[in-house]
Amino acid sequence: RLVFILNGPNLNLLGKRQPEIYGSDTLADVEAACRRIAEAAELEIRFHQSNREYELIDWIHEARDCAAGIIINPAAFTHTSVALLDALNCFEGPVIEVHISNIHKREAFRHHSYVSLRADGVIAGLGVAGYPLALQHMQRLLE
Ligand code: DQA
Repeated sequence: RLVFILNGPNLNLLGKRQPEIYGSDTLADVEAACRRIAEAAELEIRFHQSNREYELIDWIHEARDCAAGIIINPAAFTHTSVALLDALNCFEGPVIEVHISNIHKREAFRHHSYVSLRADGVIAGLGVAGYPLALQHMQRLLE
């Protein structure tokens, strides 16, 4: 089974970007951790990052045809994007939303998530460890 792991804007700078908030692991480290879990779980993953909203939307559309589940860190689009919510509402499988930081402990504008209106579960504030945990849970959901 195939799981899409999608990452929104500025996450390409993970490891360099505000490490006091997001830690020192890079997105490549996150991908490697997910690949280790995926191998053990006999899942295939497609791991993507984009700074462009339309690209994330296009991947969600692609997932409709081939993926069993989606794990998404929409980054700043979490708090702004009705379009991402609408795209996820066109996807039938489980959706898990991941945030590296605890968005509820931060500025008020980060407390609301459009994507949470669709997500089956949300992980926030566990650092990059949230990604492999989300994938482990996804495996259980897909069993
Ligand atoms: C984030 C939290 C968002 O508020 C922020 O815009 C990000 C990253 C996180 O993983 O903690 O870019 O999604």
